[in-house]
Amino acid sequence: MDLSKEIRRRRTFAVIAHPDGGKTTLTEKLLLFGGAIHVAGAVKSNKIKRGATSDFMEIERQRGISVATSVMGFEYRGLQINILDTPGHEDFAEDTYRTLSAVDSAIVVIDAAKGVESQTRKLMNVCRMRNTPVMAFVNKCDREGKDPFDLISELEKELRIKTIPLTWPVGMGATFKGVYSLYRKKLSLFSSQDKQRVDDKVVEFSDIASPELERYIDRFAAKLREDAELLQGVYPLFDETEYLAGDAAPVFFGSALNNFGVQELLDTFCEIAPCPRPTHTDTRTVDPFEEKLTGFVFKIHANMDPNHRDRLAFLKICSGTFERNKAYLHVRHGKQLRFSSPNAFMAEKKTVIDAAYPGDIVGLHDTGNFKIGDTLTEGEKMNFKGIPSFSPEMFRYIDNADPMKAKQLAKGVDQLMDEGVAQLFTSTLNGRKIIGTVGALQFEVIEYRLEHEYGAKCRWEPIALHKACWIESDNKAQLSDFMLRKHVNMAKDKHGRNVFLADSPYALQMAQEKFPDIKFYFTSET
Ligand code: G4P
Repeated sequence: MDLSKEIRRRRTFAVIAHPDGGKTTLTEKLLLFGGAIHVAGAVKSNKIKRGATSDFMEIERQRGISVATSVMGFEYRGLQINILDTPGHEDFAEDTYRTLSAVDSAIVVIDAAKGVESQTRKLMNVCRMRNTPVMAFVNKCDREGKDPFDLISELEKELRIKTIPLTWPVGMGATFKGVYSLYRKKLSLFSSQDKQRVDDKVVEFSDIASPELERYIDRFAAKLREDAELLQGVYPLFDETEYLAGDAAPVFFGSALNNFGVQELLDTFCEIAPCPRPTHTDTRTVDPFEEKLTGFVFKIHANMDPNHRDRLAFLKICSGTFERNKAYLHVRHGKQLRFSSPNAFMAEKKTVIDAAYPGDIVGLHDTGNFKIGDTLTEGEKMNFKGIPSFSPEMFRYIDNADPMKAKQLAKGVDQLMDEGVAQLFTSTLNGRKIIGTVGALQFEVIEYRLEHEYGAKCRWEPIALHKACWIESDNKAQLSDFMLRKHVNMAKDKHGRNVFLADSPYALQMAQEKFPDIKFYFTSET
Protein backbone atom coordinates (compact mmCIF):
# COMPACT_ATOMS: atom_id res chain seq x y z
CA MET A 1 0.00 0.00 0.00
CA ASP A 2 1.33 3.41 -0.97
CA LEU A 3 1.11 5.39 2.29
CA SER A 4 1.50 8.83 0.73
CA LYS A 5 -1.24 8.11 -1.82
CA GLU A 6 -3.56 7.03 0.99
CA ILE A 7 -2.82 10.18 2.98
CA ARG A 8 -3.37 12.49 0.01
CA ARG A 9 -6.81 11.08 -0.65
CA ARG A 10 -8.11 11.54 2.88
CA ARG A 11 -10.34 14.42 3.97
CA THR A 12 -11.30 14.41 7.63
CA PHE A 13 -13.60 17.18 8.75
CA ALA A 14 -16.50 18.19 11.00
CA VAL A 15 -19.70 20.05 10.29
CA ILE A 16 -20.32 22.56 13.07
CA ALA A 17 -23.22 24.88 13.82
CA HIS A 18 -25.22 26.58 16.49
CA PRO A 19 -28.03 24.16 17.45
CA ASP A 20 -30.76 24.16 14.81
CA GLY A 21 -28.53 25.76 12.20
CA GLY A 22 -28.85 22.69 9.99
CA LYS A 23 -25.77 20.62 10.86
CA THR A 24 -27.64 17.30 10.86
CA THR A 25 -29.48 18.12 7.65
CA LEU A 26 -26.33 19.22 5.85
CA THR A 27 -24.33 16.20 7.05
CA GLU A 28 -27.03 13.96 5.74
CA LYS A 29 -27.13 15.72 2.41
CA LEU A 30 -23.36 15.48 2.07
CA LEU A 31 -23.70 11.73 2.56
CA LEU A 32 -26.52 11.67 0.05
CA PHE A 33 -24.63 13.63 -2.60
CA GLY A 34 -21.51 11.65 -1.81
CA GLY A 35 -23.42 8.45 -2.57
CA ALA A 36 -22.92 7.04 0.95
CA ILE A 37 -26.66 6.85 1.55
CA HIS A 38 -29.46 6.83 -0.98
CA VAL A 39 -32.32 8.37 0.91
CA ALA A 40 -32.00 11.18 3.44
CA GLY A 41 -33.39 10.40 6.86
CA ALA A 42 -31.12 7.39 7.26
CA VAL A 43 -28.82 9.20 9.64
CA LYS A 44 -30.76 9.88 12.78
CA SER A 45 -30.53 13.20 14.47
CA ASN A 46 -28.28 12.84 17.48
CA LYS A 47 -29.58 15.88 19.17
CA ILE A 48 -31.42 16.01 22.40
CA LYS A 49 -34.30 18.34 21.81
CA ARG A 50 -34.57 21.26 24.16
CA GLY A 51 -36.88 20.52 27.03
CA ALA A 52 -35.80 16.91 27.13
CA THR A 53 -33.50 17.63 30.06
CA SER A 54 -34.91 14.96 32.30
CA ASP A 55 -35.64 12.45 29.61
CA PHE A 56 -32.87 9.99 30.30
CA MET A 57 -34.09 7.51 27.76
CA GLU A 58 -33.46 10.27 25.28
CA ILE A 59 -29.92 10.70 26.55
CA GLU A 60 -29.27 6.98 26.30
CA ARG A 61 -30.80 6.88 22.85
CA GLN A 62 -28.61 9.77 21.87
CA ARG A 63 -25.51 8.02 23.19
CA GLY A 64 -26.44 4.99 21.10
CA ILE A 65 -26.92 7.01 17.97
CA SER A 66 -23.84 9.05 18.51
CA VAL A 67 -21.69 5.91 18.51
CA ALA A 68 -23.19 4.97 15.16
CA THR A 69 -22.75 8.41 13.69
CA SER A 70 -19.51 9.43 15.43
CA VAL A 71 -17.58 8.97 12.24
CA MET A 72 -19.16 8.71 8.84
CA GLY A 73 -16.68 7.58 6.25
CA PHE A 74 -17.30 7.18 2.56
CA GLU A 75 -15.51 7.12 -0.77
CA TYR A 76 -16.28 9.90 -3.20
CA ARG A 77 -14.45 10.67 -6.44
CA GLY A 78 -11.46 8.65 -5.34
CA LEU A 79 -11.27 10.38 -1.96
CA GLN A 80 -11.80 8.83 1.44
CA ILE A 81 -14.03 11.31 3.24
CA ASN A 82 -14.43 11.08 7.02
CA ILE A 83 -17.09 13.30 8.59
CA LEU A 84 -16.77 13.50 12.35
CA ASP A 85 -20.06 14.10 14.05
CA THR A 86 -20.40 16.60 16.87
CA PRO A 87 -23.18 16.65 19.46
CA GLY A 88 -26.04 18.98 18.71
CA HIS A 89 -26.79 19.99 22.28
CA GLU A 90 -24.94 23.01 23.64
CA ASP A 91 -24.36 21.31 26.98
CA PHE A 92 -22.10 18.85 25.18
CA ALA A 93 -20.04 21.57 23.53
CA GLU A 94 -16.87 20.31 25.20
CA ASP A 95 -17.21 17.09 23.21
CA THR A 96 -17.41 19.14 20.04
CA TYR A 97 -14.28 21.10 20.94
CA ARG A 98 -12.36 17.86 21.38
CA THR A 99 -13.63 16.46 18.12
CA LEU A 100 -12.31 19.57 16.42
CA SER A 101 -8.82 18.57 17.57
CA ALA A 102 -9.11 15.51 15.32
CA VAL A 103 -10.19 17.19 12.08
CA ASP A 104 -8.17 18.70 9.28
CA SER A 105 -10.87 21.17 8.28
CA ALA A 106 -14.42 22.21 9.16
CA ILE A 107 -17.62 23.38 7.53
CA VAL A 108 -19.53 25.89 9.63
CA VAL A 109 -23.27 26.12 8.98
CA ILE A 110 -24.96 29.49 9.45
CA ASP A 111 -28.71 30.07 9.50
CA ALA A 112 -29.40 32.80 6.90
CA ALA A 113 -32.05 34.38 9.10
CA LYS A 114 -30.13 34.24 12.37
CA GLY A 115 -26.60 34.91 11.18
CA VAL A 116 -23.72 34.23 13.55
CA GLU A 117 -24.97 32.82 16.89
CA SER A 118 -23.22 32.29 20.23
CA GLN A 119 -22.18 28.69 19.69
CA THR A 120 -20.87 29.45 16.20
CA ARG A 121 -18.61 32.07 17.70
CA LYS A 122 -17.23 29.67 20.31
CA LEU A 123 -16.66 26.91 17.78
CA MET A 124 -14.86 29.28 15.47
CA ASN A 125 -12.61 30.33 18.34
CA VAL A 126 -11.57 26.70 18.69
CA CYS A 127 -10.89 26.46 14.95
CA ARG A 128 -8.86 29.64 15.14
CA MET A 129 -6.75 28.27 18.01
CA ARG A 130 -5.64 25.48 15.70
CA ASN A 131 -5.68 27.41 12.38
CA THR A 132 -8.20 24.89 11.07
CA PRO A 133 -9.28 25.72 7.53
CA VAL A 134 -12.97 26.58 7.53
CA MET A 135 -15.68 26.85 4.88
CA ALA A 136 -19.01 28.49 5.66
CA PHE A 137 -22.37 27.31 4.37
CA VAL A 138 -25.16 29.86 4.73
CA ASN A 139 -28.18 27.62 5.09
CA LYS A 140 -31.96 28.02 4.87
CA CYS A 141 -31.87 30.45 1.92
CA ASP A 142 -35.33 29.11 1.08
CA ARG A 143 -36.58 31.14 4.04
CA GLU A 144 -36.55 34.89 4.41
CA GLY A 145 -33.10 35.71 5.67
CA LYS A 146 -30.70 38.58 6.08
CA ASP A 147 -29.30 40.33 3.04
CA PRO A 148 -26.36 38.24 1.71
CA PHE A 149 -24.00 41.24 1.75
CA ASP A 150 -24.91 41.90 5.38
CA LEU A 151 -24.39 38.23 6.19
CA ILE A 152 -20.94 38.25 4.66
CA SER A 153 -19.87 41.31 6.66
CA GLU A 154 -21.37 39.78 9.79
CA LEU A 155 -19.32 36.62 9.23
CA GLU A 156 -16.15 38.66 8.78
CA LYS A 157 -16.76 40.74 11.86
CA GLU A 158 -18.16 38.16 14.23
CA LEU A 159 -16.02 35.21 13.22
CA ARG A 160 -12.92 37.33 12.74
CA ILE A 161 -12.03 35.73 9.44
CA LYS A 162 -11.68 37.04 5.92
CA THR A 163 -14.55 35.75 3.78
CA ILE A 164 -14.53 34.85 0.11
CA PRO A 165 -17.99 34.19 -1.32
CA LEU A 166 -17.69 31.33 -3.81
CA THR A 167 -21.40 31.04 -4.48
CA TRP A 168 -24.10 33.68 -4.29
CA PRO A 169 -27.85 33.30 -3.77
CA VAL A 170 -30.30 34.46 -6.42
CA GLY A 171 -33.27 35.72 -4.45
CA MET A 172 -33.98 34.54 -0.94
CA GLY A 173 -36.96 33.04 0.84
CA ALA A 174 -40.04 32.67 -1.34
CA THR A 175 -38.14 34.03 -4.33
CA PHE A 176 -35.04 31.84 -3.94
CA LYS A 177 -34.02 30.74 -7.44
CA GLY A 178 -30.71 29.02 -6.93
CA VAL A 179 -27.06 29.84 -6.54
CA TYR A 180 -24.47 31.34 -8.82
CA SER A 181 -20.96 29.97 -8.52
CA LEU A 182 -18.57 32.89 -8.65
CA TYR A 183 -15.77 30.34 -8.60
CA ARG A 184 -16.90 28.29 -11.57
CA LYS A 185 -18.89 31.11 -13.23
CA LYS A 186 -21.90 28.88 -13.38
CA LEU A 187 -25.50 29.43 -12.35
CA SER A 188 -27.42 26.46 -11.00
CA LEU A 189 -31.17 26.75 -10.97
CA PHE A 190 -33.04 24.38 -8.80
CA SER A 191 -36.44 23.01 -8.38
CA SER A 192 -37.31 21.63 -4.99
CA GLN A 193 -38.79 18.26 -5.67
CA ASP A 194 -37.81 15.16 -3.83
CA LYS A 195 -35.84 16.54 -0.92
CA GLN A 196 -34.75 13.10 0.18
CA ARG A 197 -32.90 12.21 -3.00
CA VAL A 198 -30.31 13.85 -5.17
CA ASP A 199 -32.09 16.05 -7.68
CA ASP A 200 -30.64 15.49 -11.12
CA LYS A 201 -32.70 18.21 -12.78
CA VAL A 202 -30.26 21.02 -12.09
CA VAL A 203 -30.19 23.62 -14.85
CA GLU A 204 -26.72 25.03 -15.37
CA PHE A 205 -26.08 28.35 -16.99
CA SER A 206 -22.56 29.43 -17.81
CA ASP A 207 -22.89 32.97 -19.19
CA ILE A 208 -24.83 35.31 -16.94
CA ALA A 209 -24.27 38.19 -19.39
CA SER A 210 -26.47 36.47 -21.92
CA PRO A 211 -30.01 37.87 -22.34
CA GLU A 212 -31.12 34.23 -22.10
CA LEU A 213 -30.72 34.59 -18.35
CA GLU A 214 -33.92 36.66 -18.15
CA ARG A 215 -35.84 33.69 -19.49
CA TYR A 216 -34.88 31.69 -16.46
CA ILE A 217 -34.80 34.12 -13.60
CA ASP A 218 -36.59 37.11 -15.01
CA ARG A 219 -36.12 40.26 -12.91
CA PHE A 220 -33.45 38.58 -10.78
CA ALA A 221 -31.07 38.50 -13.75
CA ALA A 222 -30.17 42.19 -13.55
CA LYS A 223 -29.68 41.95 -9.79
CA LEU A 224 -27.41 38.93 -10.15
CA ARG A 225 -25.23 40.68 -12.76
CA GLU A 226 -25.00 43.71 -10.48
CA ASP A 227 -24.16 41.60 -7.40
CA ALA A 228 -21.56 39.57 -9.31
CA GLU A 229 -19.84 42.74 -10.48
CA LEU A 230 -19.88 44.25 -7.03
CA LEU A 231 -18.53 41.07 -5.46
CA GLN A 232 -15.71 40.91 -7.96
CA GLY A 233 -14.73 44.45 -7.04
CA VAL A 234 -15.01 44.08 -3.27
CA TYR A 235 -13.95 40.54 -2.48
CA PRO A 236 -10.54 39.15 -3.30
CA LEU A 237 -10.07 36.21 -5.60
CA PHE A 238 -10.04 32.90 -3.85
CA ASP A 239 -6.58 32.18 -2.53
CA GLU A 240 -6.10 28.58 -1.51
CA THR A 241 -3.11 29.37 0.70
CA GLU A 242 -5.15 31.77 2.82
CA TYR A 243 -7.89 29.18 3.22
CA LEU A 244 -5.41 26.45 4.17
CA ALA A 245 -3.78 28.74 6.72
CA GLY A 246 -7.18 29.32 8.34
CA ASP A 247 -7.08 33.02 7.41
CA ALA A 248 -9.92 33.10 4.90
CA ALA A 249 -13.17 31.19 4.66
CA PRO A 250 -14.85 30.42 1.34
CA VAL A 251 -18.59 31.03 1.72
CA PHE A 252 -21.41 29.06 0.06
CA PHE A 253 -25.13 29.73 0.07
CA GLY A 254 -27.93 27.20 -0.16
CA SER A 255 -30.59 25.21 1.54
CA ALA A 256 -29.57 21.85 2.93
CA LEU A 257 -33.17 20.78 3.35
CA ASN A 258 -33.92 21.42 -0.30
CA ASN A 259 -30.60 20.11 -1.63
CA PHE A 260 -29.68 23.61 -2.89
CA GLY A 261 -25.99 24.37 -3.07
CA VAL A 262 -24.87 21.12 -1.46
CA GLN A 263 -23.30 19.62 -4.59
CA GLU A 264 -21.35 22.81 -5.16
CA LEU A 265 -20.13 22.74 -1.56
CA LEU A 266 -19.13 19.08 -1.71
CA ASP A 267 -17.32 19.39 -5.03
CA THR A 268 -15.39 22.48 -3.99
CA PHE A 269 -14.63 20.85 -0.66
CA CYS A 270 -13.12 17.84 -2.45
CA GLU A 271 -11.06 20.14 -4.61
CA ILE A 272 -9.60 22.42 -1.96
CA ALA A 273 -9.96 20.89 1.52
CA PRO A 274 -6.67 19.72 3.00
CA CYS A 275 -5.52 16.15 3.49
CA PRO A 276 -4.09 15.30 6.94
CA ARG A 277 -1.80 17.99 8.26
CA PRO A 278 1.14 17.94 10.66
CA THR A 279 0.17 17.59 14.33
CA HIS A 280 1.97 19.04 17.33
CA THR A 281 3.25 17.05 20.29
CA ASP A 282 5.06 18.10 23.45
CA THR A 283 8.41 17.21 21.87
CA ARG A 284 8.06 17.83 18.12
CA THR A 285 5.72 18.18 15.18
CA VAL A 286 4.61 14.94 13.58
CA ASP A 287 4.30 14.82 9.82
CA PRO A 288 1.53 12.51 8.55
CA PHE A 289 3.90 11.05 5.94
CA GLU A 290 6.24 9.62 8.59
CA GLU A 291 6.46 5.82 8.38
CA LYS A 292 5.84 5.09 12.05
CA LEU A 293 2.41 5.08 13.53
CA THR A 294 1.30 7.83 15.89
CA GLY A 295 -2.20 8.77 16.99
CA PHE A 296 -4.24 10.10 19.88
CA VAL A 297 -7.56 9.37 21.55
CA PHE A 298 -10.01 12.27 21.29
CA LYS A 299 -13.22 10.61 22.34
CA ILE A 300 -14.36 7.72 24.51
CA HIS A 301 -17.73 6.06 24.56
CA ALA A 302 -18.29 3.94 27.61
CA ASN A 303 -20.67 1.40 28.98
CA MET A 304 -23.08 1.18 26.11
CA ASP A 305 -23.96 -2.26 27.36
CA PRO A 306 -24.42 -2.27 31.15
CA ASN A 307 -23.60 -6.02 31.27
CA HIS A 308 -20.11 -5.48 29.92
CA ARG A 309 -17.74 -2.76 30.88
CA ASP A 310 -17.20 -1.94 27.24
CA ARG A 311 -15.59 1.23 26.08
CA LEU A 312 -14.75 2.37 22.62
CA ALA A 313 -11.81 4.76 22.30
CA PHE A 314 -11.63 6.83 19.12
CA LEU A 315 -8.08 7.10 17.85
CA LYS A 316 -7.13 9.70 15.25
CA ILE A 317 -4.21 8.42 13.19
CA CYS A 318 -1.64 11.21 12.80
CA SER A 319 1.14 9.37 10.94
CA GLY A 320 2.15 5.97 9.59
CA THR A 321 -0.02 2.91 9.12
CA PHE A 322 -2.12 1.44 11.90
CA GLU A 323 -2.14 -2.36 11.77
CA ARG A 324 -4.40 -4.84 13.47
CA ASN A 325 -2.63 -7.02 16.12
CA LYS A 326 0.57 -4.99 16.04
CA ALA A 327 1.90 -3.82 19.42
CA TYR A 328 1.88 -0.07 20.06
CA LEU A 329 3.17 1.94 22.97
CA HIS A 330 0.55 3.55 25.20
CA VAL A 331 2.78 6.44 26.19
CA ARG A 332 1.07 7.47 29.46
CA HIS A 333 1.10 3.91 30.84
CA GLY A 334 4.40 2.98 29.23
CA LYS A 335 2.97 -0.35 28.12
CA GLN A 336 2.47 -2.14 24.84
CA LEU A 337 -1.07 -2.76 23.60
CA ARG A 338 -2.39 -4.80 20.67
CA PHE A 339 -5.82 -4.47 19.15
CA SER A 340 -7.41 -7.55 17.66
CA SER A 341 -10.59 -5.96 16.36
CA PRO A 342 -10.10 -2.29 15.55
CA ASN A 343 -13.12 -0.70 13.91
CA ALA A 344 -13.50 1.64 10.99
CA PHE A 345 -16.72 3.53 10.49
CA MET A 346 -18.32 3.58 7.08
CA ALA A 347 -21.53 5.58 6.67
CA GLU A 348 -23.74 3.77 9.16
CA LYS A 349 -21.80 0.63 9.98
CA LYS A 350 -18.71 -0.41 11.87
CA THR A 351 -16.31 -2.90 10.29
CA VAL A 352 -13.19 -4.57 11.61
CA ILE A 353 -10.18 -3.36 9.67
CA ASP A 354 -6.64 -4.61 9.15
CA ALA A 355 -5.07 -1.24 8.45
CA ALA A 356 -5.81 2.48 8.72
CA TYR A 357 -4.00 5.62 7.59
CA PRO A 358 -3.48 9.21 8.74
CA GLY A 359 -6.79 11.05 8.78
CA ASP A 360 -8.68 7.86 9.65
CA ILE A 361 -10.46 7.34 12.93
CA VAL A 362 -10.16 3.88 14.44
CA GLY A 363 -12.47 2.59 17.17
CA LEU A 364 -10.48 0.61 19.78
CA HIS A 365 -12.21 -1.66 22.27
CA ASP A 366 -10.90 -0.74 25.65
CA THR A 367 -11.14 -2.09 29.16
CA GLY A 368 -10.19 1.11 30.92
CA ASN A 369 -6.70 1.80 29.57
CA PHE A 370 -7.52 5.00 27.77
CA LYS A 371 -8.44 8.48 28.66
CA ILE A 372 -8.95 11.44 26.39
CA GLY A 373 -5.68 12.78 25.06
CA ASP A 374 -3.75 9.49 25.28
CA THR A 375 -1.08 8.94 22.64
CA LEU A 376 -0.10 5.70 20.84
CA THR A 377 3.27 5.39 19.10
CA GLU A 378 5.72 2.73 17.93
CA GLY A 379 7.95 3.46 20.90
CA GLU A 380 8.61 7.20 20.85
CA LYS A 381 7.76 8.96 24.08
CA MET A 382 5.67 12.01 23.22
CA ASN A 383 2.19 13.33 23.77
CA PHE A 384 -0.08 15.01 21.29
CA LYS A 385 -1.19 18.46 22.31
CA GLY A 386 -4.20 20.44 21.37
CA ILE A 387 -7.08 18.72 23.12
CA PRO A 388 -8.66 21.70 24.78
CA SER A 389 -10.36 21.92 28.18
CA PHE A 390 -12.43 25.02 28.68
CA SER A 391 -13.18 26.71 31.92
CA PRO A 392 -16.50 25.20 32.99
CA GLU A 393 -19.41 27.52 33.60
CA MET A 394 -21.27 25.60 36.30
CA PHE A 395 -19.92 24.05 39.47
CA ARG A 396 -21.21 21.74 42.20
CA TYR A 397 -19.63 19.79 45.04
CA ILE A 398 -20.15 16.10 44.56
CA ASP A 399 -20.65 13.99 47.69
CA ASN A 400 -21.22 10.32 48.27
CA ALA A 401 -24.85 9.61 49.17
CA ASP A 402 -24.36 5.92 49.94
CA PRO A 403 -21.51 5.14 52.38
CA MET A 404 -21.48 1.50 51.23
CA LYS A 405 -20.67 2.54 47.67
CA ALA A 406 -17.76 4.94 48.10
CA LYS A 407 -15.47 2.85 45.87
CA GLN A 408 -18.03 2.64 43.09
CA LEU A 409 -18.56 6.38 43.23
CA ALA A 410 -14.84 7.09 43.03
CA LYS A 411 -14.43 4.71 40.10
CA GLY A 412 -17.48 6.08 38.30
CA VAL A 413 -16.40 9.69 38.70
CA ASP A 414 -12.89 8.80 37.58
CA GLN A 415 -14.09 7.01 34.44
CA LEU A 416 -16.66 9.62 33.52
CA MET A 417 -13.95 12.27 33.77
CA ASP A 418 -11.63 10.13 31.56
CA GLU A 419 -14.46 10.11 29.07
CA GLY A 420 -14.57 13.89 29.29
CA VAL A 421 -18.15 14.20 30.50
CA ALA A 422 -17.15 17.01 32.85
CA GLN A 423 -14.11 18.30 34.73
CA LEU A 424 -13.08 17.40 38.22
CA PHE A 425 -11.33 19.76 40.60
CA THR A 426 -10.14 18.96 44.09
CA SER A 427 -10.22 21.80 46.56
CA THR A 428 -6.81 22.37 48.16
CA LEU A 429 -8.57 23.76 51.22
CA ASN A 430 -10.63 20.73 52.21
CA GLY A 431 -10.03 18.05 49.58
CA ARG A 432 -13.67 18.13 48.47
CA LYS A 433 -14.42 17.19 44.90
CA ILE A 434 -15.96 19.78 42.65
CA ILE A 435 -17.48 18.95 39.28
CA GLY A 436 -17.45 21.66 36.63
CA THR A 437 -19.55 21.48 33.50
CA VAL A 438 -20.54 23.62 30.54
CA GLY A 439 -24.25 22.93 30.97
CA ALA A 440 -26.75 21.84 33.61
CA LEU A 441 -27.60 18.70 31.69
CA GLN A 442 -24.24 17.12 32.51
CA PHE A 443 -25.00 17.00 36.24
CA GLU A 444 -28.08 14.95 35.48
CA VAL A 445 -26.18 12.74 33.06
CA ILE A 446 -23.47 12.12 35.67
CA GLU A 447 -25.96 11.31 38.41
CA TYR A 448 -27.92 9.00 36.13
CA ARG A 449 -24.88 7.21 34.78
CA LEU A 450 -23.25 6.83 38.22
CA GLU A 451 -26.37 5.11 39.42
CA HIS A 452 -27.05 2.95 36.37
CA GLU A 453 -23.54 2.02 35.36
CA TYR A 454 -21.66 2.02 38.65
CA GLY A 455 -24.40 1.43 41.24
CA ALA A 456 -23.30 4.59 43.07
CA LYS A 457 -25.35 7.45 44.43
CA CYS A 458 -24.19 11.01 44.56
CA ARG A 459 -25.45 14.18 46.15
CA TRP A 460 -24.84 17.66 44.78
CA GLU A 461 -24.17 20.76 46.80
CA PRO A 462 -24.36 24.12 45.08
CA ILE A 463 -21.24 26.22 45.01
CA ALA A 464 -21.28 29.79 43.82
CA LEU A 465 -18.34 30.08 41.47
CA HIS A 466 -17.83 32.24 38.43
CA LYS A 467 -14.94 30.56 36.62
CA ALA A 468 -12.11 28.13 37.02
CA CYS A 469 -8.86 29.34 35.52
CA TRP A 470 -5.56 27.65 35.18
CA ILE A 471 -2.72 29.75 36.58
CA GLU A 472 0.93 29.92 35.63
CA SER A 473 3.77 32.33 36.22
CA ASP A 474 7.51 32.64 35.75
CA ASN A 475 7.49 34.75 38.88
CA LYS A 476 7.56 31.91 41.40
CA ALA A 477 7.44 34.23 44.44
CA GLN A 478 4.31 35.95 43.17
CA LEU A 479 2.71 32.61 42.33
CA SER A 480 3.25 31.17 45.79
CA ASP A 481 2.13 34.41 47.41
CA PHE A 482 -1.06 34.28 45.32
CA MET A 483 -1.70 30.63 46.18
CA LEU A 484 -1.19 31.33 49.85
CA ARG A 485 -3.53 34.30 49.94
CA LYS A 486 -6.15 32.62 47.83
CA HIS A 487 -5.81 29.16 49.33
CA VAL A 488 -9.55 29.04 49.98
CA ASN A 489 -10.13 29.34 46.23
CA MET A 490 -7.39 27.06 45.00
CA ALA A 491 -7.89 23.60 43.55
CA LYS A 492 -6.07 21.01 41.45
CA ASP A 493 -7.45 19.68 38.18
CA LYS A 494 -7.24 16.00 37.31
CA HIS A 495 -3.72 16.41 35.97
CA GLY A 496 -2.60 18.08 39.20
CA ARG A 497 -2.42 21.57 37.68
CA ASN A 498 -3.19 24.64 39.76
CA VAL A 499 -6.61 26.13 39.25
CA PHE A 500 -8.01 29.33 40.70
CA LEU A 501 -11.74 29.15 41.40
CA ALA A 502 -12.96 32.73 41.12
CA ASP A 503 -16.16 33.52 43.06
CA SER A 504 -17.15 36.41 40.82
CA PRO A 505 -16.03 38.41 37.80
CA TYR A 506 -14.94 41.09 40.26
CA ALA A 507 -12.76 38.69 42.26
CA LEU A 508 -11.14 37.54 39.04
CA GLN A 509 -10.50 41.07 37.87
CA MET A 510 -8.99 42.03 41.22
CA ALA A 511 -6.74 38.98 41.16
CA GLN A 512 -5.58 39.82 37.64
CA GLU A 513 -4.83 43.42 38.61
CA LYS A 514 -3.06 42.64 41.87
CA PHE A 515 -0.94 39.83 40.45
CA PRO A 516 0.16 41.08 37.05
CA ASP A 517 2.84 38.42 36.60
CA ILE A 518 0.35 35.58 36.85
CA LYS A 519 -1.29 34.33 33.69
CA PHE A 520 -4.92 33.29 34.08
CA TYR A 521 -5.97 30.82 31.39
CA PHE A 522 -9.57 30.00 30.52
CA THR A 523 -8.52 27.16 28.28
CA SER A 524 -6.01 24.47 28.98
CA GLU A 525 -4.53 22.04 26.52
CA THR A 526 -3.64 18.49 27.39
P1 G4P B 1 -28.78 21.04 13.84
O1 G4P B 1 -28.33 19.64 13.59
O2 G4P B 1 -27.77 22.07 13.47
O3 G4P B 1 -29.32 21.27 15.20
O4 G4P B 1 -30.00 21.34 12.84
P2 G4P B 1 -30.94 20.37 12.00
O5 G4P B 1 -30.24 19.87 10.79
O6 G4P B 1 -31.59 19.38 12.88
O7 G4P B 1 -31.99 21.45 11.49
C1 G4P B 1 -32.76 22.22 12.38
C2 G4P B 1 -34.10 22.52 11.77
O8 G4P B 1 -33.91 23.32 10.59
C3 G4P B 1 -34.84 21.28 11.31
O9 G4P B 1 -36.23 21.53 11.47
C4 G4P B 1 -34.51 21.21 9.82
O10 G4P B 1 -35.49 20.52 9.07
C5 G4P B 1 -34.49 22.68 9.46
N1 G4P B 1 -33.65 22.96 8.28
C6 G4P B 1 -32.41 22.51 8.00
N2 G4P B 1 -32.00 22.99 6.81
C7 G4P B 1 -32.98 23.77 6.34
C8 G4P B 1 -33.14 24.54 5.15
O11 G4P B 1 -32.30 24.60 4.28
N3 G4P B 1 -34.32 25.21 5.02
C9 G4P B 1 -35.30 25.18 5.97
N4 G4P B 1 -36.40 25.88 5.73
N5 G4P B 1 -35.19 24.46 7.09
C10 G4P B 1 -34.04 23.76 7.28
P3 G4P B 1 -37.04 20.99 12.71
O12 G4P B 1 -38.45 21.37 12.46
O13 G4P B 1 -36.41 21.46 13.99
O14 G4P B 1 -36.78 19.47 12.68
P4 G4P B 1 -37.42 18.36 11.78
O15 G4P B 1 -38.67 18.03 12.51
O16 G4P B 1 -37.67 18.97 10.42
O17 G4P B 1 -36.40 17.29 11.78
